[in-house]
Amino acid sequence: MNNISLINNDIFYVGASTRRETRFENIFPIENGVSFNSYLIVDEKTALLDTCDESVCSQFFENIEAALCGKELNYLIINHMEPDHCSQIINVINKYPDVKIVGNTKTFTMMEQFFDFGFENRIVVKEGDTLNLGKHTLKFIMAPMVHWPEAMISYDETSKTLFSADAFGTFGALDGNIFADNMDFQNDWVPEARRYYSNIVGKYGSSVNMLLKKASTLEIKTICPLHGPIFTKNLEKPIALYSQFANYKPTDKAVVIFYATMYGNTENAADLLANMMSRDGIKDIKLYDVSITDVSYLLSEVFRCSNLVFASPTYNADMHPKIAGLIEEIKSHAVQGRKISIIENGSWAPIAGNKMIEKFSTMKNMELVGDKVTIKSSVNKDSREKLKLLSKAIYNSMV
Ligand code: FEO
Repeated sequence: MNNISLINNDIFYVGASTRRETRFENIFPIENGVSFNSYLIVDEKTALLDTCDESVCSQFFENIEAALCGKELNYLIINHMEPDHCSQIINVINKYPDVKIVGNTKTFTMMEQFFDFGFENRIVVKEGDTLNLGKHTLKFIMAPMVHWPEAMISYDETSKTLFSADAFGTFGALDGNIFADNMDFQNDWVPEARRYYSNIVGKYGSSVNMLLKKASTLEIKTICPLHGPIFTKNLEKPIALYSQFANYKPTDKAVVIFYATMYGNTENAADLLANMMSRDGIKDIKLYDVSITDVSYLLSEVFRCSNLVFASPTYNADMHPKIAGLIEEIKSHAVQGRKISIIENGSWAPIAGNKMIEKFSTMKNMELVGDKVTIKSSVNKDSREKLKLLSKAIYNSMV
């Protein structure tokens, strides 16, 4: 059965959610599923904005048919060529053979790479071009690297709706309410939106800034992303958050301790430091065993927190491989401007600390806070005192 929702007068939500897929891009865990959004404008001419992931295509086609209500489909606008949105292009063409495909030159290059098909019925658009549907006029705005080079957004000048592609998206299936106004922004939207942003788009902060600059010239009443809920109120909240993310500004004055541990001794050091910091007056402290928690959640915490502590055993004359993996993720996502503190452990030749410091020295505006604390096998009286000093230094860096 179709499951469509009316967003405003002529714009329908025709996407769908999955709770069956366990990973997004076959990488990121999605315990709460994900939605693949698609929108249909039913005007004198009809326009479908993006298709969907293969996993929800049956629902998607039922939805289009219901929303079209017997009308022809005139245009298929491709804002993004990643297969979680474009997988059904050929099936749409087969079902609606007269449909015109709308995209930019890069869109069509990728389309021909993904699909062995001619795509003769095409309209190639560039920055600022418009498409009139009757009452509605869509304006196309290029958004390269948010999140792929061909990405663009479509702005409906009539309803002031921004079809924002991957921007303002989030993990999580839509549980009935398709509007963000029905969710608790801070508790329900932000955590998974931050994990989505940091892992998917996080590397491309300058591209997101360029898009925000273009969006600031538009009057926007509704934001329709390709994943997650639609914004019709308080648009300044997700926009402000995106600005912080794009500029790699931590959103919270908080400490996150990432530790690796084989037999519990480095974990003990991390726990002791957390306890000392709490007594020193730091309220927001989180600890993660990097061997247990998926790195996508860890990267999300990196985007949130002002202070990052890394505690690593020495392993094969280097840092622990899971800590190394996390630091590499931080570097590859271009994170900058964080306060870093280091704890190393080693039973005969502790070197993990220097290896971590060396890696952070290659990143932008990473400030070392406190002295590196060295533990030989387990925390003793001397290293406990050094942890106390580190706790004070972290506290002082936050006030
Ligand atoms: Fe949701 Fe970049 O695709």
